[in-house]
Formats: sequence, structure tokens, C-alpha cells
Amino acid sequence: MSRLMALVRAVNEKRVNFSQGISRTRRRDGSAAALRLALLWVIEGTLRPAKNIRQRRFDRSLCIVTTGRIAVTDAMRSAATHPDSTRYESMSPQQIKTLLRRLPIDSPAHFTFLDLGSGKGLPLVLAASYGFPRVLGVELDGGLVEMSRANVRSFETRSPTHAGVIGVTQGDAANVVLPPGPTVLFLFNPFGEATLRIVVDNIERSLKVSPRPFFVAYYNPVHREVLDERPSLRRVLSTTRLAMYEAHG
Ligand SMILES: C[S@@+](CC[C@H](N)C(=O)[O-])C[C@H]1O[C@@H](n2cnc3c(N)ncnc32)[C@H](O)[C@@H]1O
Repeated sequence: MSRLMALVRAVNEKRVNFSQGISRTRRRDGSAAALRLALLWVIEGTLRPAKNIRQRRFDRSLCIVTTGRIAVTDAMRSAATHPDSTRYESMSPQQIKTLLRRLPIDSPAHFTFLDLGSGKGLPLVLAASYGFPRVLGVELDGGLVEMSRANVRSFETRSPTHAGVIGVTQGDAANVVLPPGPTVLFLFNPFGEATLRIVVDNIERSLKVSPRPFFVAYYNPVHREVLDERPSLRRVLSTTRLAMYEAHG
């Protein structure tokens, strides 16, 4: 596909996502919430070049590469149980650190941090730095898995005390076996409603068999209603950009 076609496709995709996101938020949370989301998107879009410069600087300090966006490929669509993956992009390091501080846990020391749709691995590296003793990423795209493993190796070289903490697996989030102990599950809008329902079913089944502390941090919670409608999940925080849940067996 020519670069022009790719650009036209990306702009069109963005336009559709924007209008669907605003309508969904208006239906679910009312007009004021939809307006807040629209304003936030405009502000974030305007500030994106500055965010990218800061993130590249952060990347250089750890010799990692996490910036940029990577489109969903046909190979990913056919590898997933449901072809509803979103493209790769990352939050800024500052946004991830803020999210980690807002987790409703006393200490990360007894928790596993699991990122479903872990991309290039920025949240994994920051979760390890934050003190999670076990950090796991699951990513559908093989190229991103390789990039994240290279990032983890660079991070471990600079921070040997964290060696062996992070593990990245290639796979579909719909097929994941959840870690056995207390868990913080992080989702940055990685997939659509169909895959999210499977993930939530999986959480409920796993907690029935083995009740344990379990939290979900959902950033850019486009399909928040999938979690809101489950009595096993209690929403403990909700902002325009972030929803957090405590799960019960
Ligand atoms: C918005 S990015 C977030 C990346 C990373 N969590 C971060 O915050 O930097 C979503 C990621 O989910 C991955 N993904 C999409 N569908 C998936 C699936 N079914 N199983 C595993 N990963 C998936 C995409 O390839 C992409 O890297």
C-alpha cells in the first residue's frame, strides 16, 4: 500500500474511533463526560509532539525504544480469537508512574503485574522499577515481543537488581493462564469487547478456583461497560482516562 493510502486509512480510522468513542461515552456516562473526553483528546493531540520528545529522552536514558505507533497486521488479526486488536502506542512514562501510584494496594511486593497487550514493554519496565517482584507481559505481535525483550535486556543491563523479574510471552490475551498469586492486571485499551469478555470470564473462573487479591487497571477504558456489568468486579476509581476495579471470587 502506498504511503498516501496508509495515511488516508489512518486518518479515516482516527475519525471513526473519535466519533464512536464520543457517542459511546455520551450514551454510557452522559454529555458532560463526552465533552470532557473530546477536550482531552484535543489537548492530548496538541501536546503529542512534546510528549514524544520527552519519551524519546526517557528511552535514551535507559537505552530502550518505546515511542511510535504500530498498526495491527493481518497476521495479528488471524492469530487472535477475535480480530479486535488495537494498534501499538504507549502512554508516557509519567502517566504510567501516576497510574502505578494510584493502584489501591499497600505495596507491590506481594503482587504480580500482568500487562495483556504489552507492546514494547514500557509499563513492564516501570512496574519492575516500582517494586513488583514479578512482571509479565503477553503480546500478540511477534515483532513487538522481540522489541520488548530487547528493551527488557537493556533495562536489566542498567538495573541488574531487576534481572529476571520481567517475562514476555507471545500469545493471545484470550488464552492466557492468569498468575496464581495476588495480581494487578493492566490493560491499555488493547482489544475490543469480544476479547475483553473472554478475559473477564477467565478472571472470574480463576478467582472462583483460587480466591486472591486481584485488581484491574484499565487505561483508556473504551469498553468499560464490560467490566461495569460484572458483580464480581467493583469499580474503585473512575476518571475520563482510567478505571480501576477490585475483583472478588
Ligand atoms: C495500546 S497498545 C498498549 C501497549 C502497552 N500495554 C503499553 O501500555 O505500552 C495495545 C497492545 O495490545 C496488543 N494486543 C492487541 N490484541 C491483543 C491480543 N488479543 N492479545 C495480546 N496482545 C494484544 C497490541 O499488539 C498492542 O501492542
